[in-house]
This record gives sequence, C-alpha cells and structure tokens, in this order.
Amino acid sequence: MRHLIAGNWKMHTLGAEAVALARGVASGAQGLACDLLVCPPFVHIAQIAAAVAGSPVAVGGQDCHAADQGAHTGDVAAPMLRDVGASFVILGHSERRQNHAETDAMVLAKTQAAIKAGLTPIVCVGETEAERETGRETQVVGGQLDASLPDGFAGVVAYEPVWAIGTGKTATEADVAAMHGFIRQRLVARLGAGGRAIRILYGGSVRPANAASLMAVADVAGALVGGASLKAEDFLAIARAVKAG
Ligand code: PGA
Repeated sequence: MRHLIAGNWKMHTLGAEAVALARGVASGAQGLACDLLVCPPFVHIAQIAAAVAGSPVAVGGQDCHAADQGAHTGDVAAPMLRDVGASFVILGHSERRQNHAETDAMVLAKTQAAIKAGLTPIVCVGETEAERETGRETQVVGGQLDASLPDGFAGVVAYEPVWAIGTGKTATEADVAAMHGFIRQRLVARLGAGGRAIRILYGGSVRPANAASLMAVADVAGALVGGASLKAEDFLAIARAVKAG
C-alpha cells in the first residue's frame, strides 16, 4: 500500500514562512515512494495550494464544521476547504477532542460532511497514557473507530497515542504493530474488503531518526507528523525513509 506522509502544521507559521515551507516540501517531492500532504492553518490554505500547484504535494485542513454553511461564527465548512484547494481534512485530532470537547458523534458528523464535500477525511484515534497504563487502549481505540467512522468509510485513519504527541516519546514498534493490527481487524469486520484498503497512519513524535523503522511496521501506511513537519528537510527525510513496495 502506498504510504501517505502528512504534515500537521497545527497553529504554526505566518504567511511568508508557510509559503517557504510548502515550497521547500514541493521542491523535494518528486520521485518519492509515498504521497505527501501538508495541512496548514486555514488562513494559509489558498496560498499554499497555489504554492504547491503542479507538484505532487496535496493540501488539507486541520478541522471542519459538520454543517455546509450557517450561523457558526469562527468555523470553517468542508465545501470552503475544497473551494480553496484542499483535498484532505484531519478530523478528531486529540487536541480537538481535548481542547474543544469534540465527541465521537461530532467527529462522525464532520467526517460525513467532509466526504460529502469531496474531501478525504483523516480520522484520528488514540488512547491517553492513563488508558494505556490500565490496559484499556484497544477498548478506547475500538470505541472511537466504531463511533467516529460512517458506514462505507473509505478515508484514512490515523492512530496517534495521545502520550506520544509532541512529547518525543514514541510507541514501540511492537505496540504500533499490535494496535495497527487491531485497527485493521476492526475496519475489516465493519467495512469488509473496503477495510483492507484503508491507509492507517501512525502519529506521535515521528522524526527522521525513527521513521524508517516505524514506516516498515505491518499495517502502517504512513505518518501524521506534527513538529517535524515544520522543517521541509525533516519532513522530506521522513518521506524518503518510506521504502517502495
Ligand atoms: P508530533 O505531532 O509529531 O509533534 O508528535 C503529531 C500530531 O499531533 O499529529
């Protein structure tokens, strides 16, 4: 399965930096064995889409509202993202689940809105440290998958253990293999053959130094990269760590 290396820029970059970063990524994007995606803050998406036009780099949002339009001050609708050049959207990131109290039901509604707008959703799931320490990680992730994904889902899933995000702590290859195997099983049980075709990304402190081993784990089909996506060279080094095949 062809890997997807996705950069989640979170709430970083002013306009000029964002354009320089996107151009840097685009300049190294030819001939890679994986697909590349950058997800800048909303306000930069149109500019970044123009900056990477003609390159293999896709552009995505970091969230969207569940409604197509309406009286929702400060929110952004999925058709708006599509209109300014996004083709993907990250949904249910743990920072949204925690900081904005997003529930699985909200993530499900947003996922449906994204699909309707022609965007590929990247639905994030992952357990907290306390949940893992008490042996509940598969129960938590299984519950998130069941309640956040619509029937017939054909997007991308990102497994991001909350304790590994931005901490420099990475899940071990064995833990990643176990969780990705579990997610695959759950997707196939729910979606049948379609569940086999879904790319499952790993996220949480992915760096050039650990990318090759993480990206080679069974059922890992890419990475959702935060901190290391803010330097074009690091992001591209992660992409180059993906081996063809
Ligand atoms: P990190 O973030 O790579 O900085 O850990 C990953 C993410 O939150 O998507």
